[in-house]
Amino acid sequence: MILDVIRGRKFNEEFVVDADKSISHRCAIFSLLSEGENKIKNYLHAEDTLNSLEIAKKLGAEVKKEGGVITIIAPQKIKEPDDVLYCGNSGTTIRIYMGLLASNEGFYVLTGDEYLRRRPMRRVIKPLSDVGANIDARENGNLAPIAIRGNKLKNFNYVSPVASAQVKSALILAALHANKPSFYKEPFLSRDHTERMLKGMGAKINQKLTENNECEIEIYPLEKKLSPLNITVPNDPSSAFFFAVAAAITNSKAVIKNVTLNPTRIESYRMLEKMGAEVEYILHEDQYEPIGDIIIKGNKLKGIVVSENIPWLIDELPALAMAMAVAQGKSVVKNAKELRVKESDRIKAVVENLQKCGIDAKEFEDGYEIIGGEVKSAEIDSFGDHRIAMSFAILGLLAPMKIHKAESIYTSFPNFFELFKKIADYRITDAD
Ligand code: S3P
Repeated sequence: MILDVIRGRKFNEEFVVDADKSISHRCAIFSLLSEGENKIKNYLHAEDTLNSLEIAKKLGAEVKKEGGVITIIAPQKIKEPDDVLYCGNSGTTIRIYMGLLASNEGFYVLTGDEYLRRRPMRRVIKPLSDVGANIDARENGNLAPIAIRGNKLKNFNYVSPVASAQVKSALILAALHANKPSFYKEPFLSRDHTERMLKGMGAKINQKLTENNECEIEIYPLEKKLSPLNITVPNDPSSAFFFAVAAAITNSKAVIKNVTLNPTRIESYRMLEKMGAEVEYILHEDQYEPIGDIIIKGNKLKGIVVSENIPWLIDELPALAMAMAVAQGKSVVKNAKELRVKESDRIKAVVENLQKCGIDAKEFEDGYEIIGGEVKSAEIDSFGDHRIAMSFAILGLLAPMKIHKAESIYTSFPNFFELFKKIADYRITDAD
């Protein structure tokens, strides 16, 4: 599918984006640990999260949908599925399910699309294998498809070399089924939805943060099934950020409604503020997570250096790069090597495509340098990556863009096109 962005407009609009992807995945997966009816309002109906829900069904969950509420009832015991479990494009689905299934008796095979099958899985397979999990995968235990023979695992004391919420979540789920308490340490606090939600469901998990945001977690084995979830999933600040950048680069105003204001998720808005945009946060409620609105007003932007708190804005760096491309002066992103193992190599995808738009951009092993300039019309290769496709669609507000493989947008943000209509004229064609 090709997305042709023809022209953009200056705007003053409200955006109700789709539900949060990370939290929706966790609703489907964690429901399997509960007893009773999990009630989930505003579940994200995108390809990635529907795959997580479909897998829950294949593992024996009963799923009902009525008037915007999904009810999930877990089976007494997780069922051995009679086919492969398909995770599509979603790293969160495959990695978190690995932790759950490695510690549950049965045989499971997890796989995904051509992009997911290229992403590293050893970061979860290795620590799980160290505590007795039977997992094998292509390329000497690194790439999907992944075969798991679930069994009882030992408790652990694991210091993770990466700050990754997917790795952390997989290990926390494994620890819930161990015989003694486990300890997990990550070099920097990654998004903490898993800890918040599981604690809300009754799991005993203690988290300690050091001054530098190193994070230590103590996880106790489950003594009984968890209480069911009763949750309205907040909207996704990572999806909304495309419209925040749109406001910032066109001198417009965007009002983003009901997103999670969890500090591990909104660092990119703080960076936009540092670049010169006006940003206001309005807290409405706290339900597992702080939830509220964000208002962004465009202004003259200046280049910045982004080298800290990277796990808190990793998903938004491609969109932030679009603001860097039009800001005055030089911007630098460092310490962000993880960008290379996301849905695409996002360092290469950002830099190569910006160069096509006439912007001076340079690639480093762990980031990039961008010198703001005048954006020219270009043909963009999204590398099949939703966030690259949407980032350059936003840049299309300033010069026409032809974006290839734009169907990836449906993996996380099906309502993007509807909202994009408010601020741009565009055409979609099937050829690609
Ligand atoms: C996610 C964690 C992040 C993020 C991804 C979603 C999650 O990856 O990039 O889009 O829902 O746990 P890490 O595992 O690298 O933190």
